[in-house]
Amino acid sequence: MKILVINGPNLNMLGIREPDTYGKNTYADLCELITDYAAKKGVEVKLFQSNHEGALVDEIQAAYGNFDGIVINPAAYTHTSVAILDAVKSVGIPTVEVHISAVETREDFRQVSFVRKACIKTITGLGFDGYLRAIDTLTQNGN
Ligand code: DQA
Repeated sequence: MKILVINGPNLNMLGIREPDTYGKNTYADLCELITDYAAKKGVEVKLFQSNHEGALVDEIQAAYGNFDGIVINPAAYTHTSVAILDAVKSVGIPTVEVHISAVETREDFRQVSFVRKACIKTITGLGFDGYLRAIDTLTQNGN
């Protein structure tokens, strides 16, 4: 099984940005956590991060025919991007939405998620563990 893990804008700043909300661990720490977990589960994983909406759309499109599942934290684009929603719908790959923070307890503008409409599950507020639970969901999904 091959899973693509996509992180959106400012998640490369983990460990520096708002540590009270996102924790003190870095994006490199997150990549290591996911890579180690996937290896233990016998899952092939690719990690991708971009601050650019179009680059995220390109990466989702390129997954077509190449990946069995997508884990996506579109970060701020969660709340604005119809293009990312349409890209996930276009490829038809089972996708899990992840947020490090509990977005449902935060500002009103974070209550909207466009991509959620195309996702089989949403995981929020579990910190980095949310990505691992998303991998569990995709592997249990039998893809
Ligand atoms: C986030 C929540 C978003 O509202 C925010 O814009 C982010 C990170 C999270 O992982 O909790 O950048 O997706």
